[in-house]
Amino acid sequence: MKKMLRTLSFVPTLLLAAPALADQALAMQNGCMGCHKPEGQLVGPDFKQIAARYRDNPGAVELLTAKVKAGSQPGEPLNWGQVMMPASPGNPDDIRTVIRWMLTH
Ligand code: HEC
Repeated sequence: MKKMLRTLSFVPTLLLAAPALADQALAMQNGCMGCHKPEGQLVGPDFKQIAARYRDNPGAVELLTAKVKAGSQPGEPLNWGQVMMPASPGNPDDIRTVIRWMLTH
């Protein structure tokens, strides 16, 4: 019984960790992690910077999903620097899930 209780006490931690891991796996499958990481600039801005920039924007998830799907457009001003983001071949629902996760950072 004691052993079972000890095992059960891990369950909330697992429940909290599992969705984040699934989101990270989706981000890796879609190639996002090659250019973005949770903290620290890579090719693109990190999740913390993105989350901070769009914190007060209620339409951020849809805006960014469309943007990532289409990629940076030639001639359009870049939001973060000199590097353009390529259009993502990923499924928009997956991209939306990854963006939601990025914005929790
Ligand atoms: C080849 C590198 C590369 C890949 C792959 C990539 N990104 Fe980016 N991403 C960038 C760069 C560079 C920028 C900055 C563009 C700019 O300055 O406007 C960016 C910007 C962003 C932004 C902020 C956009 C804005 O206008 O503020 C989000 C959100 C984002 N990426 C999410 C993703 C997601 C989700 C994926 C995976 C589906 C992904 N990126 C894949 C390079 C990449």
